[in-house]
Amino acid sequence: MAKKNIQTIIRTMDYSDVTSVGAIEKLSFPSPWTERSFKHELENDYSINYVVLHVDVIIGYLCAQEILDEAQILKLAVLTEYRRCGIGTALLNALFTALKQHKFTGKIFLEARLSNSSAIEFYKKHNFRCLHIRKDYYFKPVEDALVMMLDML
Ligand SMILES: CC(C)(COP(=O)(O)OP(=O)(O)OC[C@H]1O[C@@H](n2cnc3c(N)ncnc32)[C@H](O)[C@@H]1OP(=O)(O)O)[C@@H](O)C(=O)NCCC(=O)NCCS
Repeated sequence: MAKKNIQTIIRTMDYSDVTSVGAIEKLSFPSPWTERSFKHELENDYSINYVVLHVDVIIGYLCAQEILDEAQILKLAVLTEYRRCGIGTALLNALFTALKQHKFTGKIFLEARLSNSSAIEFYKKHNFRCLHIRKDYYFKPVEDALVMMLDML
């Protein structure tokens, strides 16, 4: 259960979730993934994809990949009205649990737009470190990325 009494269920993402996930994606990112991008992730053997539901409605999702001793968080978003309720944390914890079950002891990486202070504060709260800047990594609009990393050793 997330804080502020929002009852949530986290489960693995499937193809029937992609339309709802794509809608949250469009609201959350300036250059969003298409539904096809999410379907592509679902076909990837290295992917770990979750959705979080509140009264049977998808309110957030996480997409990550785990390859040997490196993992990458590709997407994490929560519907605006449910933010700051611990739901992003619950999704991240679901990923940590899966990685621990796989005996993963490597590093988790992610990129965030440099202006995305919410995400950067969120990941810092979860002990991710700022590594370096990737110049002009994003488009629409062009922006630098901050690369962050958590060592799961
Ligand atoms: C980043 C995101 C997933 C966080 O999800 P969330 O459910 O709001 O996060 P939580 O409620 O679990 O937050 C946990 C902690 O992170 C930090 N945090 C989260 N949002 C923050 C914000 N806007 N400003 C400052 N700190 C923030 C706080 O320390 C918070 O704890 P607190 O609420 O007790 O102070 C959400 O803001 C989001 O969907 N953003 C748009 C998409 C996005 O940018 N994704 C990340 C791409 S790299």
